[in-house]
Amino acid sequence: QIVTLRAVEILDSRSRPTLSVTVGLSGGAVATAGVPSGASTGSGEAVELRDLDPARYGGQGVRTAVGHVNGVIADALRGREFADLAAVDGALIELDGTPDKSRLGANAVIGVSMAVARAAAVEAGVPLWRYLAPVGVAPRLPVPHFNVLNGGAHAPNPLDFQEFMIAPLGAPDIAEAVRAGAEVYAALRKRLRDAGHDTGLGDEGGFAPALSRPEDALDVIAQAIADAGYPAGRDGVAIALDPAASEFRQKDGRYRVDGELLDSGDLIARYRRIVEDYPVWSIEDGLGEDDREGWARLTTDLGGHIQLVGDDNFVTDPAVISAAVCDGIANASLIKPNQIGTVTETLQAVAVCRDVGYGAMVSHRSGETEDSFIADFAVATGCGQLKSGAPARGERVAKYNRLVEIAADNPDLPYGLGR
Ligand code: PGA
Ligand code: ZN
Repeated sequence: QIVTLRAVEILDSRSRPTLSVTVGLSGGAVATAGVPSGASTGSGEAVELRDLDPARYGGQGVRTAVGHVNGVIADALRGREFADLAAVDGALIELDGTPDKSRLGANAVIGVSMAVARAAAVEAGVPLWRYLAPVGVAPRLPVPHFNVLNGGAHAPNPLDFQEFMIAPLGAPDIAEAVRAGAEVYAALRKRLRDAGHDTGLGDEGGFAPALSRPEDALDVIAQAIADAGYPAGRDGVAIALDPAASEFRQKDGRYRVDGELLDSGDLIARYRRIVEDYPVWSIEDGLGEDDREGWARLTTDLGGHIQLVGDDNFVTDPAVISAAVCDGIANASLIKPNQIGTVTETLQAVAVCRDVGYGAMVSHRSGETEDSFIADFAVATGCGQLKSGAPARGERVAKYNRLVEIAADNPDLPYGLGR
């Protein structure tokens, strides 16, 4: 039984308002959750409620969403008996009544859902990852995908591709994976500094040098992996990209990369060369969310060689992922709880991926809090992959540190992709 429910307007890592939600249960368990927020959002995402009052935070305040938690949601949930988290999430979905959670606000709803999950785990006396683990799923520690070089909507540099990540696929365990991430990050800082580049950071903690060709960024990252003494590729440290192509797709359907206008076919050919020349094992949002034809072609061309992850086009929606399988689009999905709005639906999205043989990568947002919920979520679902930004900045390392702590308490949990 939920006895107390309270939201507060706090700041996220980009200095924009977001919600912290605290739930108290009748057994005495109390837990808090922080709500993340994206910048390069898919158009089908559940709707984040902002006050739009220009007198506060440039219109970005979340007092309305806070009011919904403290008012209508608290009134509806307090004192009622719920069998489990799914029942609470079902009640939230019903109370909201819209397909995109725009009435109560997805930021209000996901905050309540996450806090209830955490409080229920406390009440059950188990760690969050164990509480969330679906029946029949073997939990595992995911491969961290460290976003070491930022561009696109996450940095003011001229780089069109948004995320360049390093993934220690070949690490023996999570502690060694974190070490590899930090060592390559340090080597990259030195490389950039020696080349006269700025080593300021983007929103996700990666460096944001004034490079514009994606291949130049890949060169310096490949060099940093070697400098740090790791083999490049699946036996050591591989690279993963999130170009977030919707952000540089033009109105005429072409893509502007480093000042050049490319059609889908040109961009796919560019990716093919990149995959040949660099140890890239995964590409997310390689094409725009509406470019279904391009996506199908990209999947035919490269889907047998590398992981192709849908983010802006899938928006963690179980129904959308199921439909994409029939259309031959992508072979993996990004998983962001606030894109769909409840923890239960996020678990369903991972379950769909598992059922259809798609990969699943759990993800933070570019605007984050110190909450490490997604680390437990990734372990619980055994999906094998987590991206949470650079191995730097508190809100990013909170997730990686949580993985290391889970591993220390549970030495039998396996590490890695698991496939
Ligand atoms: P966002 O970016 O959190 O700014 O939407 C993350 C991503 O595109 O994966
Ligand atoms: Zn993305």
